Amino acid sequence: MFALQYREYGDHDVLRLEDAPEPHAGPGQVRITVRATSVNPFDWKLRAGYLAGMVPVTFPAIPGTDASGIVDEVGEGVQGVAVGDEVFGLGARTSAEFAVLDHAVHKPASASWAEAAAMGLAVETAARCLDVIGVAAGTTLLVDGGSGGVGSAAIQLAVARGATVVATASPANHEYLASLGAVPTTYGTGLGDRVAALAPQGIDAAIDAAGKGSVPDLIALTGDATRVVSIADFTAGQHGAHLSDGSAGRAYYSLANAAKMHSEGNFIVAIEQVYPLAEGGLAHLHSQGGHVRGKLVLAVS
Ligand SMILES: NC(=O)c1ccc[n+]([C@@H]2O[C@H](COP(=O)([O-])OP(=O)(O)OC[C@H]3O[C@@H](n4cnc5c(N)ncnc54)[C@H](OP(=O)(O)O)[C@@H]3O)[C@@H](O)[C@H]2O)c1
Repeated sequence: MFALQYREYGDHDVLRLEDAPEPHAGPGQVRITVRATSVNPFDWKLRAGYLAGMVPVTFPAIPGTDASGIVDEVGEGVQGVAVGDEVFGLGARTSAEFAVLDHAVHKPASASWAEAAAMGLAVETAARCLDVIGVAAGTTLLVDGGSGGVGSAAIQLAVARGATVVATASPANHEYLASLGAVPTTYGTGLGDRVAALAPQGIDAAIDAAGKGSVPDLIALTGDATRVVSIADFTAGQHGAHLSDGSAGRAYYSLANAAKMHSEGNFIVAIEQVYPLAEGGLAHLHSQGGHVRGKLVLAVS
């Protein structure tokens, strides 16, 4: 099969479209012919070697953790998904002609292949964070980094739970944040004062979806470190806040929820750009810039 892969850690140009052995579905897994896969910052952090020592890599490595496509193999014990079904979900080595998914749900007819591929890791991470800090009806939530993949999903899932959401982004993304249901403000110096003015009732819980050092500010705003979660700041635990990396359990249930919300017109997946698989290196470089609105996607077939 063809696959985007790298044989050593390095810059985006270590990624090449090459031949690779086909994977097969093991117990509980499905294999898909991949139509699209999304780019997550994890992909380039791993490729650059930033996670060496934390996340093992076997070379040649194929990036990608979420994808959409058509099921062509069903592993033992899988129920509710059959060969020929259109699905999306979470797996590994998804930037390839075929990929194995550990968690696959049916693609809603309302979603394009690109949108479905982009509803994997970002949605699961967002739902996991909302669960960790107890976001429910009546919660006032702050999302720092609201316009990225995870932030965009977190806002919409929180609004669907009945929360009020204040979210940060650069000014060019404020209209976008409002379209997702959040009250927008800018990130950085003075965040506490700006948020206090926008949410005089106070902030109950907060997500650091950017990893730019806002955790102490978020704790000051909530007054309770246990209601602050970061997905990208490894020092969060030192402040008493949560660092969620999925190792304590994943919110897999959220994929089907997001699919249902999308089919009902209640979930937007903003795709900033779709790249052909062969240009995956450029997509990584784009993601590394740190200012993607919504998601980047690779079109595979
Ligand atoms: N732990 C986990 O399980 C997990 C899972 C997924 C992702 N992550 C990590 O979480 C982070 C976000 O992931 P993502 O997929 O949402 O990334 P993304 O789509 O690349 O989002 C980047 C967003 O960050 C915003 N941003 C840039 N500088 C900022 C600042 N100083 N303060 C606040 N926001 C800022 C940008 O907003 P503007 O464009 O408006 O500037 C942009 O929308 C990454 O570090 C990723 O590796 C962790």
